[in-house]
Amino acid sequence: MAKALLHLRQHSRSAITTRRASNFNSEQQPDRSLDRLLAGRVYIEELPPDIEPIRTLLVKYSGIRTKDVDEHVHQIRDRLWDIYPYATIGHFRFLSLKFTLDSWYHVALDRLLAPRSDVTFLDVGCCVGQVLRKLAFDGVDPGRLYGLDLESRFIDAGYDLFKDRNKFRATFLVDDVLRRGSVGGGDSGSEALDGKINIIHATSFFHLFTWRDQVRAAQRMVQFLDPDDPDAMIFGRQVGTTTPGDKECSRGPSKFLHNAVSWQALWDEVGVLTGTSWRTEVSETEERGMRGDETADGTLRRIRFGVFRA
Ligand SMILES: C[S@@+](CC[C@H](N)C(=O)[O-])C[C@H]1O[C@@H](n2cnc3c(N)ncnc32)[C@H](O)[C@@H]1O
Repeated sequence: MAKALLHLRQHSRSAITTRRASNFNSEQQPDRSLDRLLAGRVYIEELPPDIEPIRTLLVKYSGIRTKDVDEHVHQIRDRLWDIYPYATIGHFRFLSLKFTLDSWYHVALDRLLAPRSDVTFLDVGCCVGQVLRKLAFDGVDPGRLYGLDLESRFIDAGYDLFKDRNKFRATFLVDDVLRRGSVGGGDSGSEALDGKINIIHATSFFHLFTWRDQVRAAQRMVQFLDPDDPDAMIFGRQVGTTTPGDKECSRGPSKFLHNAVSWQALWDEVGVLTGTSWRTEVSETEERGMRGDETADGTLRRIRFGVFRA
């Protein structure tokens, strides 16, 4: 039965993927703008102005002396960079708390802080776990906060960044959301969360993958969500584009970047595969320019997204 279901899912996935490809991947020439962005000046020395809010967190929550913050974050950034040189790390973007400007962060915070709330929050691709620390600092019970990442060394560095190894009670899990068997059953390190999560956050995550892997990751996220929660939601920020499609990248397979239409199409496909239904919202963030954009073709955008039950 499970095998038959899996076969059915695989069959419908390839059918829909073919339709998507003709809709969103019409460019004949490979689009190298993402590659140029990622290969560009992604490692910067100077701390960007938008890390100011995290100074407060590092001083008040972590107890780091104000004069030591810069050296501390440079040291941690270099440690993270040696693990994997993500642009978010090279740009110190993991220290930005701009997600707190997004209305969905406040929707999440309100639900998490409501009296007698048992709402749970999972950050997928949490890296150092800055979102979870901010929620805890904002008053959320860490016992209902979860972080999931492929790379245990990022999670470990997070404890050192925030100096809370012995006091932060959030649960971190190391798992690959794309792992075969983690979709549609099987033993997964994160299986304990299946059906138990109310809110998922995923920033700078989906844009790492092909369309097919984004579908897989999204299926896994649907599996995490409480099927009885009509207000379950997934939100975050990512790199988007005005020309949705596969963007070539020398580091690994091409990535699929979205606009609002392709993002809804992805979640329509996920809905078919999971027997669920999703409504999406996408908007551009306040950050108009993208570092490296001068070397790209001007089509890249920073977007925020929300995914809600339809
Ligand atoms: C570009 S970083 C973004 C980190 C964080 N969300 C942020 O905004 O600062 C992507 C993160 O996703 C994690 N990741 C990549 N592939 C993954 C997978 N298949 N399963 C779980 N985590 C993954 C990486 O280890 C990394 O921490």
